[in-house]
Order: sequence, then structure tokens, then C-alpha cells
Amino acid sequence: IERTFSILKPDATARNLTGAINALIEKAGLRIVAQKRIRMTREQAETFYAVHKARPFFGELVDFMISGPVVVQVLEGEGAILKYRDIMGATDPSKAADGTIRKLHAKSVGENSVHGSDATETAAVEIAQFFSGNEIVG
Ligand code: GTP
Ligand code: MG
Repeated sequence: IERTFSILKPDATARNLTGAINALIEKAGLRIVAQKRIRMTREQAETFYAVHKARPFFGELVDFMISGPVVVQVLEGEGAILKYRDIMGATDPSKAADGTIRKLHAKSVGENSVHGSDATETAAVEIAQFFSGNEIVG
């Protein structure tokens, strides 16, 4: 059974969308096996998005991720990584398919409500950055 790492981003928590997004996650058959609401530090956000360090939007991205509370989660299910990417929708909400989280809720390509891991390796690294083993209850 596969696990993926999810973040409900500051634009989502600001609009009180934690429950609405969690309902879409659970409706898709993914199980929320760990969850906590945190304020990311700048260092945590820079580490998390290190792969995008050279991108022109890196500074904006980090500033946004620390601008308010986020909910970090571990989601579990068959094919969880791809399944979550599927229900998240495209990075740019104007290109996201109908019914996806980003189509329904995201404000822009930057403030796009959710993060989901893109591969097995990154999922493991991302989960380990925010959760210890005993915080994940499958
Ligand atoms: P994540 O699940 O958050 O990784 O999204 P993604 O995999 O769909 O997108 P990608 O990894 O390419 O980019 C990571 C994040 O950087 C996106 O989710 C956006 O929040 C942000 N981002 C990407 N492109 C832009 C951009 O052009 N402008 C801004 N401000 N942010 C961007
Ligand atoms: Mg990504």
C-alpha cells in the first residue's frame, strides 16, 4: 500500500477549506493516516522546495508557504501518489480538470491550495521531513 505526502497550503487554510479538501481526499479512497496543522519556518520551506531553488518564483513560493498555517498530511491508498496528483489537478488551476481540488479551490498557479508528492522517492523524503514514524497511524 502506497503513501504520499500532502500539504494544504496557506490559501486553503485561510479560507477554511481543510474539511472541504479532506472530503475530496477521502471520497477518492485515500486515507489520511497522519495530519497536523503547523506554521512552516522559512528554513523548512526552503528545504522542502530546494529542487525549485533556481526558479524565478522560488522566493515568492517560500514567502507564500510561510504566510499562514498549513496542514501537512500523509495519505495512504492503492496508487496513492498518482491518485492524489489526479484529484489535485494541474498546477495552474485554469488548466485543471473539472472536479479537481485546484479547479474547485485554487486561486492561481502560486496559490494553488495543495501539494502532493510526484514520485515514490520524493514521497518518502517529504514524509520524513515532517513526520516521525509513530505519528503515522495506518
Ligand atoms: P506541488 O505539488 O506543490 O509540487 O505542485 P506541482 O508539482 O503541481 O508543481 P511544481 O512542482 O512544478 O511547482 C511547485 C509549486 O511551485 C507549485 O505548486 C506552485 O505553488 C509553485 N509554482 C509553480 N510555478 C509557479 C509560478 O509560475 N509562479 C509562482 N508564484 N509559483 C509557482
Ligand atoms: Mg511538484
